[in-house]
Amino acid sequence: MIIHPTENTPGINKLSHIAFIMDGNGRWATRRGMPREYGHTIGAKVFRRVAEYCFRGGIDIVTVYAFSTENWSRPKREVDAIMNVFGSYLKMGLTDMAKDDICVRFLGEKTPFAPETRELMERLETESLGNRYKLNIAVNYGGRAEIVNAVNRLIASGAREVSEESLSSAIYTAGQPDPDLIVRCGGEVRLSNFLMWQSVYSELYFTDTLWPDLTDNEIDKAVENYYHRKRRFGKV
Ligand code: FPP
Repeated sequence: MIIHPTENTPGINKLSHIAFIMDGNGRWATRRGMPREYGHTIGAKVFRRVAEYCFRGGIDIVTVYAFSTENWSRPKREVDAIMNVFGSYLKMGLTDMAKDDICVRFLGEKTPFAPETRELMERLETESLGNRYKLNIAVNYGGRAEIVNAVNRLIASGAREVSEESLSSAIYTAGQPDPDLIVRCGGEVRLSNFLMWQSVYSELYFTDTLWPDLTDNEIDKAVENYYHRKRRFGKV
């Protein structure tokens, strides 16, 4: 169970936004003698469970890194498999998100997706707008591209210079607080172009656990670790 401290200690931010780098699906499947694509099918199921667990645990915003701008260069068979899993998720999402009070936002340019996928993404965003819990899915996402895109949008709207405030209002997560905690599965210790603008003050938690193996218990551990670090900072 996710436990938030009850005392109001200066220096402790309530964990309201958690982000995940869902790494390790391919290795998880290979270790079981299965094709990498199978790992993504299971990864998508875990994604749903993790998001629901976080929302039930009082976290308002969950962001996941599902597909980077670089992932398009994987073998076509794997890209197609991820797109299929993503497509089924979108169809399911259209019925489930309203029921679960979840507002979905896609972080990334939609142009490279197939027209029917784009339409589903747009419908899901529009139909879930205003729901209580915020679920950001980074697809075709790159942190640097997001910043460049935001600057270009500001220039196109007539700006001659940008500020931290104007840039924050032009990125994909506009209007939302930055992630308090970023959890990366799969053993790599880097951010891989994820939330470059938003992550400057985020606490980072790295685990060797492969994404499909991520348990509720390990999420609890990451959250506990987050509050522990903040507590120590408060005392310093
Ligand atoms: C990283 O593991 C995972 C991906 C690049 C794809 C993640 C996609 C999904 C979970 C399914 C679609 C998404 C949603 C939101 C329904 P990896 O393949 O890089 O694993 P490896 O490091 O073991 O090779």
